[in-house]
Amino acid sequence: MRKMPRAARTKMKSFGSSMRMAHDSSDFYSRRMYASADRTEVNEIRENSVQGDVVDRVFCRSSKHMAELPDDCVHLMVTSPPYNVGKDYDQDLSLVEYRRLLNDVFREVYRVLVVGGRACINIANLGRKPYIPLHSFVIEDILKLGFFMRGEIIWDKGSSAGTSMAWGSWLSAANPTLRDTHEYILVFSKGNSGRLRAEGKRSTITKEEFMEFTKSVWRFPAEQARAVNHPAPFPVELPERLIKLYTFEGDVVLDPFMGSGTTAVAALANNRHFIGYDTNEKYCRIAEKRIKEVTSSHG
Ligand SMILES: C[S@@+](CC[C@H](N)C(=O)[O-])C[C@H]1O[C@@H](n2cnc3c(N)ncnc32)[C@H](O)[C@@H]1O
Repeated sequence: MRKMPRAARTKMKSFGSSMRMAHDSSDFYSRRMYASADRTEVNEIRENSVQGDVVDRVFCRSSKHMAELPDDCVHLMVTSPPYNVGKDYDQDLSLVEYRRLLNDVFREVYRVLVVGGRACINIANLGRKPYIPLHSFVIEDILKLGFFMRGEIIWDKGSSAGTSMAWGSWLSAANPTLRDTHEYILVFSKGNSGRLRAEGKRSTITKEEFMEFTKSVWRFPAEQARAVNHPAPFPVELPERLIKLYTFEGDVVLDPFMGSGTTAVAALANNRHFIGYDTNEKYCRIAEKRIKEVTSSHG
């Protein structure tokens, strides 16, 4: 594409700019608002490969320590952490203990992610009285680990959301209650740049998918727990969209809370590698079974 001369580039105007292509945003990013973003910028190319016996495997233990993974070896992390709400794999952690668990895991994710690699966290908020905004706690904590935030996707689950009938005060302004039909997918990166080693690599996203997946609201139904024998799976479409958007063919995708292996299924179906962790023996076996089915159907 021909580069537009600097004079022809659009600038931020008081009432916004209509043309975003070749937009010169240097004035915007030099504002004092951005001066407080004190995260570590990393621009050097650091990329290690993982041993052949480590990729395409589920490790049935905690992801607080991913000792088999060298620094800077994973291109994308996609996960949905345990929500600590009383599912059969949940412990009864206090909010402080819960945040510490996620922090321990995401610190390891930061270490193993390549520069420019994305970390995408699917999370919902909890309760009503009061509402616990888990997603905002995750954002607050993960920024302290050095990640940059790159966006927030609202996943609209529509009629599949299975909202409760707890309206609060029915047809009365006394105390009506909001019923969430959405979850979040929070997007972070290591360093503020894109992938530094992209030459010769192949993206597999179509034009239509790119137009759709770069929007901040996604609409598709939730997965049925019964369908995959896990109490809280996400649908394959969720990791699949992120994999197509943020990885090249042959890249490595990590899910540190793998559950029934949905991220692995999406990775393999799209010619990517995966690495998964889960502490629950039963879910590791379910994930391995799903992985075997995809591998045999893809030859
Ligand atoms: C919300 S589920 C993930 C579901 C998954 N996305 C799927 O589609 O099946 C969270 C998973 O985290 C696992 N888990 C909890 N603590 C863990 C830890 N410290 N390390 C690894 N996995 C853990 C649980 O066993 C549970 O399967």
